[in-house]
Amino acid sequence: MSTLRNDIARDLALPRTQNEYTELVRALLHQRCPLAPPKAFVHTYGCQGNVADSERIKGMLAEMGYEFTDAREDADFVLFNTCAVREHAEDRVFGNVGALKPLKSDKKDMIVALCGCMMQQPHVADRIRQSYPFVNLVFGTFAIHRFPELMYRVLRGGKRVFEIGETQEPVPEGLPVRRDSMFKAWLPIMYGCNNFCSYCVVPYVRGRERSRTPEAVLAEAKEIIAGGAKEITLLGQNVNSYGKNASDGVNFPKLLKMINDLPGDFHIRFMTSHPKDCTKELLDTMAACEKADRHLHLPFQSGNNRVLKAMNRGYTRESYLELIRYARKVMPDISITSDIIVGFPGETYDEFRDTVSLIEEVKFTSLFTFIYSPRVGTRAAAMEDPVPYAEKSRWFTELLKAQEKIAAARSADMVGKTYEVLVENETKEANGMLTGRTGGNINIDFAGDPALIGSYRRVRVTEAKNWLLFGELV
Ligand code: 5AD
Ligand code: SF4
Repeated sequence: MSTLRNDIARDLALPRTQNEYTELVRALLHQRCPLAPPKAFVHTYGCQGNVADSERIKGMLAEMGYEFTDAREDADFVLFNTCAVREHAEDRVFGNVGALKPLKSDKKDMIVALCGCMMQQPHVADRIRQSYPFVNLVFGTFAIHRFPELMYRVLRGGKRVFEIGETQEPVPEGLPVRRDSMFKAWLPIMYGCNNFCSYCVVPYVRGRERSRTPEAVLAEAKEIIAGGAKEITLLGQNVNSYGKNASDGVNFPKLLKMINDLPGDFHIRFMTSHPKDCTKELLDTMAACEKADRHLHLPFQSGNNRVLKAMNRGYTRESYLELIRYARKVMPDISITSDIIVGFPGETYDEFRDTVSLIEEVKFTSLFTFIYSPRVGTRAAAMEDPVPYAEKSRWFTELLKAQEKIAAARSADMVGKTYEVLVENETKEANGMLTGRTGGNINIDFAGDPALIGSYRRVRVTEAKNWLLFGELV
């Protein structure tokens, strides 16, 4: 027995490439289950960055021989790619992991794996280690490219594997990608964040900013275009600081222009832009790029200068408004969306009202609004936070009401006008209606043949019900 253990230990210590591990995993899985390919279930929480990571993990799983299922009870491998940005997201993950326990007792060979931002936090990994013994594999955001090796360690070593170390190595290239959509593609251009907004856990779980080279980004963009995608979304926590430390002089506006100049019939989006790094050069470039959709997601978080300072955001209400004015000057039809946090530690009601007055002034197309959630290790988590949650919830409702009014007026204004939309899916009600999304990121429902999904069509808005829009094909 101990010789076998020594053999395994020696085997696991051998230096191998990730491709070699992939082949070994494929062979082991075939041995385990020779009659049918094993099935994987992958669920992603959080932002598009996580979605893009999951597409790479699924690419690796496919190379290991996995097929995919939407039913976790049918799966031989279950993976949750997790999000740490707010407590609510974390609670859902713990709940869903707990719910796997009976499944795993019925199916001993099932591999349960957890990855992503939550797992990069040592206190979370410890909790999994202690309270969820049926979890086989835990890996953080820095180990994604080593997934084949980790799988081999689980299968061959037969022990639980935890891999949550941090590195500052360059971004690994050449991972296979299995994209969720045929017509819209996520394209990460950078990873990590250097901003340390005082409420945010991302810099702790994603590390410092690392940009992909322009060559790598362009190569992937070409691959996406050749694959027939109609929309490419460039991703980064702060795309505006793309290439900041690179010697080739390619900053984000230049990269955007390079992608815009690639031949093909496609649109470009990007997110997220940080106001402190959003330059007039970027807005001018966007205006000059005919493939860039007229949508700017520019999170302002708070409309009050004291709160912005405490958040470590690096801009003021006035400089934010100046950016919006400039964006609208060079792109009159631009649609602007934002993120807001209500109830940051120490925020007063009057300070919160500055956020409401800012949304009334800017008239955003839509907002992603959050009640502040303390995150372990961040500076804000140590700040005095005297306002009770129930009070913050009332402010939150007040904000939503103000935005509803703005959105209703905007919707009413769209009636009678025609927009180009990317037809995305059938509506949930499955009543012969499709949903299309405008360049400004507004959904319009209309009757149409599902064969239109994945194409651009012109739709005239016929009716607005609050923020819901209905239209007809032109
Ligand atoms: N609490 C509430 N919202 C947060 N966000 C980030 N961290 C927190 C937090 N601790 C929000 C910000 C950010 C968006 C992605 O999530 O608004 O822009
Ligand atoms: Fe978090 Fe701020 Fe970085 Fe965005 S810019 S990921 S809010 S620290």
